Amino acid sequence: MTVNDALKAASSLIAPACEIRGANPARVAKALLMRHLDVKIEWIFLNLNRELEDADGYFALAKRFANHEPLEYITGEAGFYGLTFNVKKGVLIPRPETEILVERSLEVLSNLSTQNESPLIAEIGAGSGIISICLALNSKAKIIASDISDEALNLARQNAEKFGIEDRIEFVKCAYLDQIYGRFDLLVSNPPYIAQDYGLDKFVLNEPHEALFGGAKGDEILKNIILVAKNRGVKYLACEMGYDQKESMQNALKFNRFEAKFYKDLAGFDRGFVARNIFANF
Ligand SMILES: C[S@@+](CC[C@H](N)C(=O)[O-])C[C@H]1O[C@@H](n2cnc3c(N)ncnc32)[C@H](O)[C@@H]1O
Repeated sequence: MTVNDALKAASSLIAPACEIRGANPARVAKALLMRHLDVKIEWIFLNLNRELEDADGYFALAKRFANHEPLEYITGEAGFYGLTFNVKKGVLIPRPETEILVERSLEVLSNLSTQNESPLIAEIGAGSGIISICLALNSKAKIIASDISDEALNLARQNAEKFGIEDRIEFVKCAYLDQIYGRFDLLVSNPPYIAQDYGLDKFVLNEPHEALFGGAKGDEILKNIILVAKNRGVKYLACEMGYDQKESMQNALKFNRFEAKFYKDLAGFDRGFVARNIFANF
């Protein structure tokens, strides 16, 4: 079977799954082939009539996608903030909207840096480590990040090593900041915030549920994080949230004496906030 025939057959196999994802079957088929052969896209265009080696191995990858395994889990990589991070099943795949949370956090840090050479950051829910790693790479901050998942922590440590900043970030297994001590200038989090009964597509449901669902309403973990931020006297709190959670976050932040600015994602949905603790010592 030629490369071209294999691409066509794989495209048909994955077409129904691509429809769920709004993805282009031919493009996904090529991405899977690049992963299978460890080649760049140019190789594929130059070798369309060549006999495909280990076609069974290629179709095994296509079947994984047809069974709704996200492409990033199959390729083991995901792009975020201009970098390529390792990803794996069991850990949330980075989402493009989280880049805005990184941007907003860096803005906070640039103001703090004028007062403090090395600001201290805590992150709740590190996942693959993308947020802490991007903050470390773009500032002088020292960072401690928690997660309840061993798989996430191992991957985050691996990613930190990949970018050579393992000395700047400590990853700790705990809920919230339960095993993490000290005072922080900035607490950042992209926590699970989806309501338990929200209908997600089959690909997303292949991601870890403890990274997705925030409780019956969805905002429960976010509310706990606001309480942690208040009790620990953090100066700034930056969080991603669900598109329909602005009002509940506004109330919780106001009640806990935070002054908040909300931001939208690129689709125009409310997506997060940066809040200043009115009573923290600056
Ligand atoms: C939505 S994912 C975000 C991962 C990563 N920060 C990102 O933006 O891609 C949330 C992460 O929080 C972790 N998590 C869930 N509940 C937690 C808690 N109470 N304390 C710490 N981490 C928690 C999950 O295991 C998951 O890795």
